Amino acid sequence: MPEERTEQPHIVTCTAPVNIAVIKYWGKRNEDLILPINSSLSVTLHQDQLKTTTTVATSRSFQEDRIWLNGKEEDITHPRLQSCLREIRRLARKRRNDGDSGVDSASLSHKVHICSVNNFPTAAGLASSAAGFACLVYTLARVFGVEGELSGIARQGSGSACRSMYGGFVQWIMGNKEDGKDSLAQQVEPETHWPELRILVLVASAERKPVGSTSGMQTSVKTSCLLKHRAESVVPGRMVEMTEAIRKKDFAAFAELTMKDSNQFHATCLDTYPPIFYLNHVSQQIISLVHRYNKHYGETRVAYTFDAGPNAVIFTLQQHVPEFVHVVQHFFPPETNGADFIKGLPVNCASLSEELKQGIGLEPMPKGINYIISTKAGPGPCVVEDPTQQLLSSDGFPK
Ligand code: DP6
Repeated sequence: MPEERTEQPHIVTCTAPVNIAVIKYWGKRNEDLILPINSSLSVTLHQDQLKTTTTVATSRSFQEDRIWLNGKEEDITHPRLQSCLREIRRLARKRRNDGDSGVDSASLSHKVHICSVNNFPTAAGLASSAAGFACLVYTLARVFGVEGELSGIARQGSGSACRSMYGGFVQWIMGNKEDGKDSLAQQVEPETHWPELRILVLVASAERKPVGSTSGMQTSVKTSCLLKHRAESVVPGRMVEMTEAIRKKDFAAFAELTMKDSNQFHATCLDTYPPIFYLNHVSQQIISLVHRYNKHYGETRVAYTFDAGPNAVIFTLQQHVPEFVHVVQHFFPPETNGADFIKGLPVNCASLSEELKQGIGLEPMPKGINYIISTKAGPGPCVVEDPTQQLLSSDGFPK
């Protein structure tokens, strides 16, 4: 029919951030709904350095739902993708039936084309599923005209994705309802709260792909009694302490809890049977470096945290960034010296005293770290108004 051919798709583009947990999520009580065994807390990273961009188009002429990720068409029948699509459409239908005039009734019956890219290399091994699912859910909601609480839907894509629905400092409250309606993310403080806080992502050169989080945490729930103890008796108190440390901008308290929680998460991995190792010799060297650096100054200036891979994420205050970056560069001499080693927010030059180098006293480990991304806390998902940034062209297919 001629009408169908001339109809322009309805197109929306949004971006969403990566987040890094300082109180870790590890373990589900319900696999389908993705309900965790403990609450968690994260910092949303700035999208200038790390983000996912997603364009969604709807049109009466589309035959089926389709998705392209980083330039390649992927299987739309993936259960977690299906959960997000189904839940957004369900919510839109409910809002429309409740009389919400913002919901785009026409597009509700249409198929969608989804196209998504990251502004950081997938090879860097940075968790992209959180930003990816947050961006998908946020963009779909905009397409259908649904507003309000969406973290419960993002959670069903990937647990940690619910925390990428907000900027700044975000907690994921585990909830206790069986249907998961109370397992939602909530902002603790906005991204403007602690402007001096800086984040350095140390991209490690990994030799092999580690066990994925989904299957790793399944084995941990089944076999680790340390994980059970952690979820029941350790995390509840740490959530309170961490919220308080952030509220007061108490770096020493924030840093110590962050490191202890990362260490306990990796201890539960070792307590898993068969054990899971995410930390390698480079990670161990970074841990030693941070503790020796802090000891040298007699105060906690720097903290590390590691997820299900060997990359380290470092928290520090702005005034310590130049020196610490140079410490890392000294103890992990890169292949390419200089500018290429540091990406993101500019880092001023600093010189290292012999006293500091000797105080740390580690043997340099050449090429252990590929590069550093320097960033800070940032905002939650955003709509991109500029049509030139769309990833789908006006016919609804990838550009
Ligand atoms: C170690 O959210 O990737 O990064 O819910 O199965 O998709 P699924 O797992 P995922 O797990 C993240 C685990 C972690 C800790 C964290 O981000 O809290």
